[in-house]
Amino acid sequence: MSQCPFQTTTAGAQIADNQNSLTAGPRGPILLQDWQLLEKLAHQNRERIPERVVHAKGWGAHGTFTVTHDISQYTKANIFGAIGKKTDLLARFSTVAGELGAADAERDVRGFAVKFYTEEGNWDLVGNNTPVFFIRDPLKFPDFIHTQKRHPRTHLRSNTAMWDYWSLSPESLHQVTILFSDRGLPTDVRHMNGYGSHTFSFINAKNERFWVKFHFKTQQGHRHWTNAEAAEVVGQTRESTQIDLLGAIDQGDFPRWTVSVQIMPEADADKTSYNPFDLTKVWPHGDYPLIEVGVMELNRNLVNYFAELEQASFSPSNIVPGIGFSPDKVLQARLFSYADAHRYRLGTHYESLPVNAPKCPVHTYHRDGAMNFMPMDKNPDAYYEPNSFGGPVANPAVAEPALKISGDADRFDHREGNDDYSQPRALWAMFDDGQKSRLYSNLAAAMQGVPEFIIERQLGHFALIHPDYAAGVRAALK
Ligand code: NDP
Ligand code: HEM
Repeated sequence: MSQCPFQTTTAGAQIADNQNSLTAGPRGPILLQDWQLLEKLAHQNRERIPERVVHAKGWGAHGTFTVTHDISQYTKANIFGAIGKKTDLLARFSTVAGELGAADAERDVRGFAVKFYTEEGNWDLVGNNTPVFFIRDPLKFPDFIHTQKRHPRTHLRSNTAMWDYWSLSPESLHQVTILFSDRGLPTDVRHMNGYGSHTFSFINAKNERFWVKFHFKTQQGHRHWTNAEAAEVVGQTRESTQIDLLGAIDQGDFPRWTVSVQIMPEADADKTSYNPFDLTKVWPHGDYPLIEVGVMELNRNLVNYFAELEQASFSPSNIVPGIGFSPDKVLQARLFSYADAHRYRLGTHYESLPVNAPKCPVHTYHRDGAMNFMPMDKNPDAYYEPNSFGGPVANPAVAEPALKISGDADRFDHREGNDDYSQPRALWAMFDDGQKSRLYSNLAAAMQGVPEFIIERQLGHFALIHPDYAAGVRAALK
């Protein structure tokens, strides 16, 4: 007798034969009543969902966040409630530009998204392996992404489009310098840092607000490939990062990151020489030192990639009491964009999917909709709000303190009064001669085929970072 369970239809009835179609005679044709065959083909046609419009290629695992230091003076968020407290999490890492089947060892920013299943709801930190970004105004994001994706006619990626856009958008210089430096091509995700990148807010039990930035520093050390090494790797396997992460966790070699925060008192935001809500800027550690908070460990591989990662929905709008947003314009736009993408990619009830469902009770008045598999109503009379039938009510205790804002409604030039050169200069100045020379050759390689006038415009920006920077790239171009 077979040890296996009997195969059934999706309606639960047992199947007699999964190898031979139902035919008129051994040579066919097939009978229309072979609904098992029809179902099988129809299901296959529906196996793909839209890939993420960006960050399509990804790798991830489950893990734990453990608090090692008390930061309750800054935030009342329960996840940071006590030293030793552990919270389950899901992490997804990704490249930005490549499609779902892209090679892993490509020079690109890496996404660093973490979903913390806290007792107060899911908190998603959807960051990158870089502390800054290419733009500071979200109106520029779709155009920027178009330059990273395929040209409509050639269906190839276009160096010209990238450098045309970057050279017309000097706020990208900081991120461009990181992207073409050694850290722009990590060997895998275990050997890179993660950053929340944006400024967020913390609210403590006294209802005081602090501005905060999140940092995840790799405990494995940094490792990266040169362009030549990466070309060799891609020649061997397109899945180098997947193989690395899966293998390490399977072998019990759990990757860890030290989680720290930078804290800025609310009133300081008016005093810094730079706009602390500008995503193209870091807060110098000298001004706002790292404060250690805990450790993120990845310790459990996925069982089903599609269910646990392709269907995972990370959104910066998922915050919990004690953690809030900031006036960062790019963050503000992202608060809309991700849930909208999830409704399109996964459907209205994406948050009920097991991987996205909070581990705490959920009480909303959302109703119905396609594929609604929310729990049945326990209190069917309370299906609107306010009601007199004991339905869930809002809790004023989790209200944030008022945020003072002012100003005229207008489209303000986001470049006016903004220094796009000092922080890239500070980064460039940290590089040793070898790092600088690889930066120049990586940039020159990426500029192949770009019209001269665009290259000159970009070299003009590099010169404003430092004349040696521009001279180095110019020499590498030759
Ligand atoms: P610090 O010397 O205090 O910090 C330098 C930071 O740069 C560290 O976080 C370090 O990360 C990181 N770093 C070191 N080498 C590289 C590299 N090759 N590529 C990218 N990052 C690197 O200086 P400041 O805080 O004053 O910042 C100076 C510059 O450092 C900034 O302009 C920015 O470009 C860069 N930086 C700053 C960060 C910040 O939050 N202040 C964060 C990351 C980069 P690690 O410890 O992991 O080596
Ligand atoms: C993915 C939009 C900027 C990090 C995505 C997705 C969209 C998007 C629509 C796909 C979501 C999905 O289908 O699940 C935007 C917009 C931005 C922006 C409109 C700016 C205006 C940023 C920035 C960061 C970032 C600044 C990092 C600091 C990520 C990551 C993912 C992602 C990590 C993949 C999440 C995952 O693993 O599922 N973005 N993005 N994005 N974005 Fe952004």
